[in-house]
Amino acid sequence: MKRKVTKAIFPVAGLGTRFLPATKSIPKEILTLVDRPLIQYAIDEARAAGIEEFIFVTSRGKGALEDYFDHSPVLEAELAAKGKQKLLDVLDTTNMDSGAIAYIRQHKALGLGHAVWCARKLIGDEPFAVILPDDVIAAEKPCLAQMVEAYQETGGCMVAAMEVPRDKVSSYGVLNIEAQFGNLYPVRGMVEKPKAGTEPSNLAVIGRYILTPDVLENLSQTEKGAGGEIQLTDAIAQEIVAGRPVNGLRFDGQRYDCGSKAGYLQATIAFALARDELRDELRDFMHELVAMDKAAQ
Ligand code: G1P
Repeated sequence: MKRKVTKAIFPVAGLGTRFLPATKSIPKEILTLVDRPLIQYAIDEARAAGIEEFIFVTSRGKGALEDYFDHSPVLEAELAAKGKQKLLDVLDTTNMDSGAIAYIRQHKALGLGHAVWCARKLIGDEPFAVILPDDVIAAEKPCLAQMVEAYQETGGCMVAAMEVPRDKVSSYGVLNIEAQFGNLYPVRGMVEKPKAGTEPSNLAVIGRYILTPDVLENLSQTEKGAGGEIQLTDAIAQEIVAGRPVNGLRFDGQRYDCGSKAGYLQATIAFALARDELRDELRDFMHELVAMDKAAQ
């Protein structure tokens, strides 16, 4: 039995410039899919995988995230007075136990690897998860829970992996794999955002990781890599060089890249269609829209 993974890091320091002007005054992680912020999906997935401590790596202007996970006494009292129990239950999913959530600031935008390293003192000497809230994954068994299950067998480091079209591969961390055992890929090498034509495969890292504390050690010595940033991919790749196992798990589920407008809109539609109370109306509307669009062509 491997040591239980109970801590997760949520890197949320990014500026979200792709969603300006909206993200001028709200963190991109508060953008909603239907009525729930992106960060709520990430937290729910972490909880379903047994995570008990939630570490946010933030930056200036992310205060709304702290408020979101805090109790809201005035609102709660008002809803209680009106007997709105269902809404109170909805709010309850946003509440965190005292001490279960921590915020650390990344003072300089030096990259994902640096963001994770900023949380090193809160992680200490145990395995931990990293969840990138931009990557939203709809799955029967949540992606991180799939990974935790697989990790109980493999130990070491594990990254979520997915095949992406060749023309998109240079936007990702990419795996060099040697074999496949079911949906597990032992990783032989990893490269962050390879130049087109140099990629070792089209198997990309998606934003879910289970990492050993060795990766934090590596990060303290990792030099700037792709894009002039300290890359998490490079620090994980050092594990392979050191002879320790890194596995890619090809997860079951549908991943949406909510860091891009197209992916975010696709997720919005998919999550709305999954809601009983919205499905019929939205489907009718979409049919009409498509018909009108065709007629106009
Ligand atoms: C980050 C990681 C990259 C990974 C991707 C998944 O890149 O650095 O390895 O493939 O997330 O979404 P970013 O999207 O922050 O450029």
